Amino acid sequence: MENLDDLKSELVAAVDAAATLGDLEEIRISALGKKGRVTGLMKGLGSLAPEERRDAGQNLNIVKNAVTAALESRRDALADAELDAQLEADRVDVTLPVRPEVEGRLHPISQTIDEIIAIFGEMGFTVAEGPDIEDNFHNFTALNIPPEHPARQMHDTFYLPEQEDGTRKLLRTHTSSVQIRTMQTSEPPLRIIVPGRAYRCDSDMTHTPMFHQVEGLIVDKSVHMGHLKGCIIDFCRSYFESPDVPVRFRPSFFPFTEPSAEVDIGCSRSGGTLKIGAGEDWLEILGCGMVHPKVLEACGIDSSEYQGFAFGMGIERIAMLKYGMPDLRAFFDADMRWLRHYGFASLEVPTLLRGLTP
Ligand code: DAH
Repeated sequence: MENLDDLKSELVAAVDAAATLGDLEEIRISALGKKGRVTGLMKGLGSLAPEERRDAGQNLNIVKNAVTAALESRRDALADAELDAQLEADRVDVTLPVRPEVEGRLHPISQTIDEIIAIFGEMGFTVAEGPDIEDNFHNFTALNIPPEHPARQMHDTFYLPEQEDGTRKLLRTHTSSVQIRTMQTSEPPLRIIVPGRAYRCDSDMTHTPMFHQVEGLIVDKSVHMGHLKGCIIDFCRSYFESPDVPVRFRPSFFPFTEPSAEVDIGCSRSGGTLKIGAGEDWLEILGCGMVHPKVLEACGIDSSEYQGFAFGMGIERIAMLKYGMPDLRAFFDADMRWLRHYGFASLEVPTLLRGLTP
């Protein structure tokens, strides 16, 4: 059998000298692939005498492990370098003047978020944020969602690879995780909204794997369901710019609120068009309720002293309703024709005084 030390040095040197990920893959195949040199030697072990075979086997494993480790570290280094080069090449010079043929438009999601902030801002809410990559505690446990809850399953939640301590992070499935972060880090009274992205393993006509929500949370000493109703009804009337849009509260269930409700707005569907306002039909737009005492306690807030209400609403949904956009998936196609049609002028900032929409 050939000198394994020499073989190891030769292969590791080849790996270290590989200039591209493609070259690296070729070296891997020629060493460890089905017909690779190391694999070939492994296959040859069978023909050795038993005592020779043990030693040779161990030595071959040393070679194999050294080559594998070298491959991994070279692969990381090359991937980093490739990404750096790509980022460098992609650099955009934001100081260049706008090309006249490019007319920038605000995406309807940005416009809708601005409108939501204008309305809740007027009511005294501030905007809070949290990370898109969350842990089980903030996304589920602290929100009183039990371990066996279906939302925790792989087919509903995007989990990241396992970490060293055996836990797995996840892409937050709702903005409710930011309720927890805010209550952990700030003293009540609290009055926040959280516009942001959420992620679920779901893709069809009415679901995209990434979507937007706005969460709301108030925590104070004497908050009650009447405040929740007033706040939501006011929001709906302002947002749909119609003082008499019917709003209905329907009892519901969420693990993090008790009691819980879903809110519908009145609409009519005639001749294939959907119209917000009085009509024979109802459309669900959000979930809400009084914050469950267990959720307050999980964040170190004394539930005998404080209570609160919360709500969560899908942003695409209410944008589609207000602006008559029939197709959810078009939001994320990055089609300039769609954006030219449904986008908004970038300098028209929504305010309640001047009107939300240009
Ligand atoms: N997190 C819920 C969801 O994604 C929405 C929700 C319901 C949020 C009720 C709340 C709430 O804050 O009180 O479906």
